[in-house]
Amino acid sequence: MNYNELAKKAVDAKKKSFANFSNFHVGAALLTENDELYLGANIENSSYSLTICAERTAVFQAVLDGHRKFKAVAIASDFEDYCPPCGACRQVLMDLCGKDLDVVMVNKKDEIIVPKLAELLPLGFNEDYLK
Ligand code: THU
Repeated sequence: MNYNELAKKAVDAKKKSFANFSNFHVGAALLTENDELYLGANIENSSYSLTICAERTAVFQAVLDGHRKFKAVAIASDFEDYCPPCGACRQVLMDLCGKDLDVVMVNKKDEIIVPKLAELLPLGFNEDYLK
């Protein structure tokens, strides 16, 4: 699957979003090393801080299924411009997917930009510091 196709999957995944409080719908599509696809969407909670982002719902499902190597995550939102992953998701993606993950952000015109996770989280903390 190419990254434009992955971006479209993230746009589709946005339909699964439960965002009754912010009304800001986010979809994510995570591509494993062997081209399996995991979708995610943000799920909000009336106790706002318990909300979970689209990226984390996708990566947690993939990890539960035993995946530990990933190529890319695509992120789509209601915003006109590209929606960057929040700081918490950058940290989780760094730990579970690694610094070389391609982060595919798609805007409302279906254009994409693809920075590496390392560019979005320079000097990121990871498990190496715990050894
Ligand atoms: N959100 C995501 O799902 N991913 C991000 O990286 C940015 C923020 C969600 C969380 C919340 O449900 C809504 O967007 C507004 O912050």
